Amino acid sequence: MDQNHKQDEHGDLFAGFSTAYKSFATEAIHVGQEPEQWKSMAVVPPISLSTTFKQRGPGNHAGFEYSRSGNPTRNCLEKAVAALDGGKYCIAVASGLAATVTITHMLKVGDGIVCMDDVYGGTNRYFQRIAAELGLEVCFVDCTKPAQLKAALKANTKLLWIETPTNPTMKVVDIEACSEVAHEYNKDIVVVVDNTFMSAYFQRPLALGADICMYSATKYMNGHSDVVMGLASMNRDDLYERLKFLQNALGCVPSPFDCFLCNRGLKTLHLRMERHFKNAMAAAKFLEADSRVERVIFPGLPSHPQHDVMKRQCTGCPGMITFYIKGQLEHASAFLSNLKLFAIAESLGGYESLAEHPALMTHASVPEKERVVLGISDTLIRLSVGLEDEVDIIEDLEQALSAAHPKKK
Ligand SMILES: Cc1ncc(COP(=O)(O)O)c(C=O)c1O
Repeated sequence: MDQNHKQDEHGDLFAGFSTAYKSFATEAIHVGQEPEQWKSMAVVPPISLSTTFKQRGPGNHAGFEYSRSGNPTRNCLEKAVAALDGGKYCIAVASGLAATVTITHMLKVGDGIVCMDDVYGGTNRYFQRIAAELGLEVCFVDCTKPAQLKAALKANTKLLWIETPTNPTMKVVDIEACSEVAHEYNKDIVVVVDNTFMSAYFQRPLALGADICMYSATKYMNGHSDVVMGLASMNRDDLYERLKFLQNALGCVPSPFDCFLCNRGLKTLHLRMERHFKNAMAAAKFLEADSRVERVIFPGLPSHPQHDVMKRQCTGCPGMITFYIKGQLEHASAFLSNLKLFAIAESLGGYESLAEHPALMTHASVPEKERVVLGISDTLIRLSVGLEDEVDIIEDLEQALSAAHPKKK
């Protein structure tokens, strides 16, 4: 689909954003799915549950030996995701955090990790409370300021971990600038971008200089809130060789059934993301115009501090909005408790609208002092805007705001 077509369909929603990737939908539907790979010529990849595969003679197998080291259904998914990321390879693992752990296992004691300061709470917890205790040196910097990143790099830095937009405060990091800073300092620093919020449809970190593009596929990539999974794509042969080894050696692999579901979810990724964007833009504009809302953070709005970076490096925006409601914790709680269409729930990126309170829910594991610095306050609310009708979404936000801030009679 080209950009002009999208503008016709959605007004000026995509105006100024980077052009959509060529043949994205076609690749999502066909790459890795070839019926010719199965004797049955099945058009939809079968769920291959067998844990082991018959060999013609010892060591003479047909590409699969044991389901942890390789599985036919997982193979279909990995090929499709690699294509959608503009990469050569992909590995699928059991969760987003399993992807983080698997990637971090490329390092050894004494190596350093530089991590974006505002990342998913579980990433922060893993780096601070597990990786650091195992002898890795971890520091957090605000990568929206490449000069700060430059100052944080050291001789032992082996991994740069970027999340953009960040969870939950939606800071947008310039991937190209940060990759350049890291690779100029030391070309061997592995730059990883957590692309969970964007999905492969809206952002291609590998084309912007990153070495690995990882996902919690639990979110938009699967898109149906029924799979926990992680993915990591790359172009470099050496990284793939190591990660493929770790995928098998650590054993954090996803089930064939989950691979089937995620592979199926990819078939509608482009359609889902366009609707997420449209609904989120409408919701963000509604919230920004409402006097009961202190501030809206949505990278699709011109008011977002890195709106220009977002437009330059992305082809659109996902359904993630954070906003500060006026008042105190009680107002945020009242808003959330009164939502009818949005469910109060962790996670994001599914077809259904969800709302949550980061300070009490997803980011409770981030130390309070850090939460204050990051702006994860008691009045911060995160929305994952789903695929319902726009009018119903806005009606729900309106009535919950009214319940939190009743009009004075
Ligand atoms: C941005 C981001 N990265 C990674 C993760 C971890 O993924 P998972 O829950 O699939 O382990 C999450 C989960 O919420 C996330 O939001």
